[in-house]
Amino acid sequence: MIAPSILSADFARLADEVAAVRGADWLHVDVMDAHFVPNLTIGLPVVEALRKVTDIPLDCHLMIDDPDTWAVRYAEAGVHNVTVHVEAAEDPVKIAKDLRAAGALAGLSVKPNTPLEPYVELLRHYDTLLVMSVEPGFGGQRFIPDVLEKVRAARRLVDSGELTVLVEIDGGINEETIERAAEAGVDCFVAGSAVYGAPDPAKTVAQLRRLAAGASGRS
Ligand code: DX5
Ligand code: ZN
Repeated sequence: MIAPSILSADFARLADEVAAVRGADWLHVDVMDAHFVPNLTIGLPVVEALRKVTDIPLDCHLMIDDPDTWAVRYAEAGVHNVTVHVEAAEDPVKIAKDLRAAGALAGLSVKPNTPLEPYVELLRHYDTLLVMSVEPGFGGQRFIPDVLEKVRAARRLVDSGELTVLVEIDGGINEETIERAAEAGVDCFVAGSAVYGAPDPAKTVAQLRRLAAGASGRS
């Protein structure tokens, strides 16, 4: 699955930019609060507006200090997958339960230097695991290959039946890096600058999907 990140889109023309990634599996929306990360982007009102102009399932990545209060509001707004950061969540089990009760998938994200092992039990409550392959906060950064160890570990846990999460990766994914991530076992690839920096975003989504499918060795 390919999830273009609108962080690299033209925010003055969001509806057109969403239409430009026709065929995308999910639409990745980066919510930043200038506290959990240094950058500030968009919040609930824009997500609600996006929901009205597209049928592409929304994938909201909350880079905010207080997901315990806010995450469920995104689920109630009709977001398909709501991801919170484990580094920010006070009661991540309750967040997951609330998200699922509101009809969304529950996603948990780890920053590049956050290990996976302490959270394996917690991930039983979650539907998606978002492995950050850049420090969260900005688009257009370089892919950090070391995080693929975490992807491999997650893949093993899923393949052995211990976990049922979908493995998502975010940061620095492009035509040069996507195959390595696919080989490591990623299911869903977020790509911002690679998609919106291309002359034909929809074509780039299709090309990224082809490369990932060719490298994954899984159906
Ligand atoms: C970064 C965001 C990413 C960002 C990825 O904090 O979470 O979703 O848009 O951008 P690229 O694909 O350009 O690295
Ligand atoms: Zn993101």
